[in-house]
Amino acid sequence: MMQVEGKENSSREARLGRVALVGCGFVADLYMRSLAAHPEIAVIAVHDHDPARLAAFAAHWDVVVEPTLAALLARLGPDDVVLNLTNPSSHYAVSRACLEAGHHVWSEKPLTLELSQARALHDLAEARGLMLASAPSSVLGEAAQVLIGAVRRGLAGTPRLIYAEMDDGFIPQAPFAKWQSESGAPWPHADEFAVGCTLEHAGYVLSWLIAMFGSVTRVVSASAEVIPDKPGGAHAPDVSVSTLHFETGPMARLTCSIVASHDHRLRVFGDTGVLQVREVWNNAAAVRFHRRFTLRRRLIEHPFARRIRARGPSHPKVGRWGAASMNFALGPAEMLAALAEGRACRLTNAMALHLTEVTLALQGPSGVVEIESRCAPMEVAAWV
Ligand SMILES: NC(=O)c1ccc[n+]([C@@H]2O[C@H](COP(=O)([O-])OP(=O)(O)OC[C@H]3O[C@@H](n4cnc5c(N)ncnc54)[C@H](O)[C@@H]3O)[C@@H](O)[C@H]2O)c1
Repeated sequence: MMQVEGKENSSREARLGRVALVGCGFVADLYMRSLAAHPEIAVIAVHDHDPARLAAFAAHWDVVVEPTLAALLARLGPDDVVLNLTNPSSHYAVSRACLEAGHHVWSEKPLTLELSQARALHDLAEARGLMLASAPSSVLGEAAQVLIGAVRRGLAGTPRLIYAEMDDGFIPQAPFAKWQSESGAPWPHADEFAVGCTLEHAGYVLSWLIAMFGSVTRVVSASAEVIPDKPGGAHAPDVSVSTLHFETGPMARLTCSIVASHDHRLRVFGDTGVLQVREVWNNAAAVRFHRRFTLRRRLIEHPFARRIRARGPSHPKVGRWGAASMNFALGPAEMLAALAEGRACRLTNAMALHLTEVTLALQGPSGVVEIESRCAPMEVAAWV
């Protein structure tokens, strides 16, 4: 049962903090399912500008609704976090309103559709001393943190090259008209195709790479719309292939598409072998290390991998939904923990801006982009 302010949750003892949701569509259900695994987080209230969607969502989850964003914001205290789960075209205006009202913001990705808007939000949050963090949460998940920890410990030696695939399969032929969230929101295919798979999904690996290595200084990207007759009249690239050059040395190749067969592998090639995760959309995915060695005159990557594990219990896991097993509440939980403990959030404002600037460069237009923003690598979790 969800923990809802003024309803189920009023008697909870262990309270980490409170969140409010703006946008009650497809992904909001995944957040509610994830938040159910975090009874220490209370949902104060929710808002959607579509009254019918708001009513359906509230009926399903038994949450307090607010008919306007202003009314929702008026309910919040200084240590509450707003989750901006609206469509990408609404992200800027909603996040801006929340920050201007003095509230911390967790935004679904992409943070904004324009770099100037991302800079404006970042600067506003900094000026007000507020947190502005961007999805995905999966960078805080077990697979990501174990991988980052293994790279930091030098398990694969010096990392030289990273190959990351974010191919989702031939989605325009998928039966997406039948995809519905738990409370009945249709998968917003027209919006997804219009925004483009790179803006929608590159963050699932890019956030890991930025957390691992810090700033990207240069992107060389090639992107194209290779399926121009998708439903919904979309005109965003449905494939991008890019190289990313990190300040700390390694180079990465990142591929995003809704064309090539499903492949969400991330491989880090280092001096002593290969670290790999087969499915970055699974928080519990195995992190494997294939040692490289020579046998007589042959160079071999060991066919049997060593599995690298967390040192202790990591975080609550959620069940599989579609192609993903991800806890969407990890980011908001980190923000609330930072507030409760009086420490800096591991998902920094600088990271949100950097992730957005690099993602926009990957999306195109094709070419070379020198990246202006900078951000430090992320501290790994204590359980790694
Ligand atoms: N669909 C997925 O599987 C998925 C997964 C992870 C992340 N996301 C991200 O989540 C975000 C939302 O996607 P979705 O699939 O839930 O879309 P959706 O269209 O199903 O839901 C978005 C909701 O936001 C509401 N909304 C839009 N603008 C608003 C505003 N200004 N004020 C109040 N409500 C507003 C809409 O009415 C809608 O109900 C996007 O950024 C998307 O990239 C989606």
